[in-house]
Amino acid sequence: MTPRSGKVRVGVLGAGAWAKFAHIPGYKRDPRCELVAIADPIIERAQEFAAEFDIPNVYGSHAELIAREDIDLVDVCTPSATHFDLSWAALEANKHVLCEKPVAYDYTETLRASAFAKSKGLKTKLGFTFRYAPSMRYMKELIDDGFIGTPFIFNGYEQNSQWLDPQNPLRQVDVEADQSIIQVSSLEGYGAPIMDIGHLFMGSRFEQVVGTMRNFIPERMVRQTGTMMRMNIDDGDIFIGEFANGAIGSIQTSFVTVGNYPGIEARVYGSKGALICRLVEENGICETLKAASADQVEFRELEIPARFYPPGGNREESWRSLFYANLVSSFITEILSDGPENEGNFDDGAHVQELINAVELSFRQRKWITIPLAPGVAS
Ligand SMILES: NC(=O)c1ccc[n+]([C@@H]2O[C@H](COP(=O)([O-])OP(=O)(O)OC[C@H]3O[C@@H](n4cnc5c(N)ncnc54)[C@H](O)[C@@H]3O)[C@@H](O)[C@H]2O)c1
Repeated sequence: MTPRSGKVRVGVLGAGAWAKFAHIPGYKRDPRCELVAIADPIIERAQEFAAEFDIPNVYGSHAELIAREDIDLVDVCTPSATHFDLSWAALEANKHVLCEKPVAYDYTETLRASAFAKSKGLKTKLGFTFRYAPSMRYMKELIDDGFIGTPFIFNGYEQNSQWLDPQNPLRQVDVEADQSIIQVSSLEGYGAPIMDIGHLFMGSRFEQVVGTMRNFIPERMVRQTGTMMRMNIDDGDIFIGEFANGAIGSIQTSFVTVGNYPGIEARVYGSKGALICRLVEENGICETLKAASADQVEFRELEIPARFYPPGGNREESWRSLFYANLVSSFITEILSDGPENEGNFDDGAHVQELINAVELSFRQRKWITIPLAPGVAS
């Protein structure tokens, strides 16, 4: 469904930090789209954003925004527990949907939303920010062009020290959860984007996994209650796995490991070469890509070609706006094209969610788990 007006008209749900620093700057940078409306139940926030970013229409409820006939794309940038219902409502109203991850905690729900979108000729995209980093785009091109040969091993990390300090208030936690059982946290919040990159780079999905989770910092400040509480959440986890194509891999995530944002690293080793991409803000730059080949085993830094950057972008820019500008641009291109192109969509999100559920099951049952999961096993 291509926009009638020639430009993609966008409505944003949620006037929070991530909308401000990543999503909205992405739309402002792409002349093929137009920000039409913003909604937030705390309407003062939406009004503030409307003034700052020159958005003409403000709503205190998502329903009013979604009901506008002239909006082509609804951007869901709200707390995670609201993502599925808001995305579904937007799809019902025939809008393309960009949703922050996860769409739903149960991957079968995400698959259902994906099928619903496809049945209506609508496109979907997840907020898998890091696959759109210029260095990751270049790395994918090199892999596709055969630089590493047959892929053997993938190692992925998302780790930084965001919550090493227990006084830094935790958001989006279930304060009612049974504290005798460790709850999935970093595995989902930090794991999803790097799992997505693993599937993307290896051209295959994990089909066997075994993993573990750990709670290192027992008590934390919680934003919702304003008090220090026992929070038995996974603040560090590791799993290994086998891809369907015979490759193997490992993923480690943590938000209590010393290091800077965003803290992503993807390593791919193959029959001819190896590539290591680091998305870590260090020494004023936010990304590096290094390569080695069988005949030149010392890793050397590669220059990332200008064509992978959004207009005006460079690696000294904040990773938040830089990577998201590419994500937004990719979705606008997909919506404006009549073809089937639609990367990083709800299907990809569902497979990542299934992988998260599989690693959790593996930890709880202390055994290897096979993907696809048996029906009903993770919900
Ligand atoms: N992809 C990434 O790298 C990345 C990074 C940061 C955050 N996120 C995700 O982005 C989302 C938003 O995070 P944030 O830090 O901006 O949160 P936030 O709490 O700062 O903002 C969320 C806003 O959504 C509003 N909201 C709640 N229900 C709503 C509804 N029904 N309609 C419209 N607005 C509604 C809230 O009032 C709030 O203003 C979360 O899901 C978070 O996990 C993703």
